[in-house]
Amino acid sequence: MDNDIINEIRHNVNIVDVISEYLPLAKKGKNYFGVCPFHDDHSPSMSVSEEKQIYTCFSCGATGNVFKFIQDYENVSFLEAVKKCADICGIEFNYGNKKENNRYQDLYDIYAFASKIYQNNLYSAKGVQAREYLKNRKLSMEVIKEFQIGLSLDEPSIITNILKEKYDDKTLIQSGLVNEGEYQLYDIYRNRIMFPLYDLRGNIVGYNGRIYNTTKKDNKYINSKETPIFKKSNLLFNYHRAKEYCRDAKSVIIVEGQIDTIRLYEVGIKNVVASLGTAITKEHAMLLRKLSSNIILCFDGDSAGEKATKSAILELSKLGINPKIVRLNDNLDPDEYILKYGKDEFLDKINNAYTVIEFKELLLKKDIDLNNSLELANYTNQMIKEISSIDDDVLKEISINKLALETKLDIDFLKSKLVNNEPKKSLSKVSKLKFNKYEKSEQALLFYMLKSVDVIKIYEKKITHMPTKKYRKLAFQIDCFYKEKGFIDVADLLTFLKDDLESVTVIGEILAQNLKEEVTDEAILDYLDNIRKYNEKDISNKYKQQLYEETNLKRKIELANKAIAYKIRSEKNDE
Ligand code: CTP
Ligand code: MN
Repeated sequence: MDNDIINEIRHNVNIVDVISEYLPLAKKGKNYFGVCPFHDDHSPSMSVSEEKQIYTCFSCGATGNVFKFIQDYENVSFLEAVKKCADICGIEFNYGNKKENNRYQDLYDIYAFASKIYQNNLYSAKGVQAREYLKNRKLSMEVIKEFQIGLSLDEPSIITNILKEKYDDKTLIQSGLVNEGEYQLYDIYRNRIMFPLYDLRGNIVGYNGRIYNTTKKDNKYINSKETPIFKKSNLLFNYHRAKEYCRDAKSVIIVEGQIDTIRLYEVGIKNVVASLGTAITKEHAMLLRKLSSNIILCFDGDSAGEKATKSAILELSKLGINPKIVRLNDNLDPDEYILKYGKDEFLDKINNAYTVIEFKELLLKKDIDLNNSLELANYTNQMIKEISSIDDDVLKEISINKLALETKLDIDFLKSKLVNNEPKKSLSKVSKLKFNKYEKSEQALLFYMLKSVDVIKIYEKKITHMPTKKYRKLAFQIDCFYKEKGFIDVADLLTFLKDDLESVTVIGEILAQNLKEEVTDEAILDYLDNIRKYNEKDISNKYKQQLYEETNLKRKIELANKAIAYKIRSEKNDE
């Protein structure tokens, strides 16, 4: 791959602009700061340097240039990330359609193939009833096609037999479409409407099969089991389609079911994803945050939906996110609600979604009598607890005022009851690392090598090799980069190092030390001298070790002399 064009593309986009498309950045001093999307960050820990064109997270250590950011954020390959940047800056870049080799390519292929068969079935003569069912559920042909809905036939091993010609039994069973019976393999999905489940990039990786024409008591849905390519807690249904719509709408709506998603989509509300009936996990929360900071929970109107809402609020609050909440009446789910009341009423609900505190208030008030002093006291105490946890000062003030009006209690009294629960600031992982004097010298040296060719030249001339392996490697790589290019640039170096995660992480660690920008030659020589001393002490110790093991007296004396000589050199102040 032509590195020059890749570097040219990188130089023609501004990392600050690109990252701003994904998350809000605020300028502080020379750098920009935002909430890190790569760990469960609460306060802005990610710094983006316009000057260096890189980002570093001071908490989790994530580091990289614009390509790495897009790769990790969008879960795309390096070349896809380069392509995205090329499109932004209008440089022609074609990397061909060559599929990058994936360890689980067989599984992806099996699903792509199965999807064709299931869809064919639906449109075949055997699909009459299923098509009728979908029609009755008011799903248009257009969304049926778009969501690649299919049908598994009422026969024991159609898919198995077709796939068997190409794949071995083990792969078939691993795929989650086939089971192992006593005598032979058979299809897991039979006589069900097949809703494909996608990964974040839009590959089909699983299925939800729904019963449609049986009165037999059976599970409503059969869900794919976990496979290497399908982890329910890491996926949101419709994520890949919703991405751009969430950006436009500046919000994301999350619902429980895939039919809910498809219904919203059908009526033109496309910024929607689903958790597929599972509780919201930390991974889900991080994915939602990527879609938008304005998250609207719209779970089923029943008590299970209420419970799911509460637990989602909790999970999101761990990331410092306050979602908005929609509650649908009559136990309806979003699909039923839209069919019954129409799109506009539904949008009304979305636009007037509750804040977390309003939702909590609703729950607390559900079955209490505010005229009963005891119940009123209980309610007030609970509300004070909830209001105490609001981060936004203005919202806090508004909420406490509302409570005062409602309870007819003195506002200053209520305020005095607020508990101060400042979130405990946890020390970041990177700053928790402790380094000794020598490591600090190595880091400082690398820090300035990353900034200045002059320092690289000094390092080359002195060839003091760094004692710590990972630092030694990075110093070597910096030197190689410089020899090839004749300059040093951290962001380009990161492209150069793209698969060397260790060195990339070291760069993050070094930049997180936040050293002074300017450095004198004397300081550099000092760092080098510290390293030299360490090396000499190290050599001295090695001779000492050999000395203990040596039995020949003459050689013992020689070794002792060497050990002493190096010890003295390591303690000398000047060379
Ligand atoms: N679900 C599942 N297995 C079940 C029940 C539910 O995987 N046995 C998942 C499905 O993804 C479903 C979601 O949980 O979409 C929500 O469940 P539910 O509300 O029961 O289903 P609906 O989406 O309302 O589906 P339908 O309208 O077809 O009944
Ligand atoms: Mn439903």
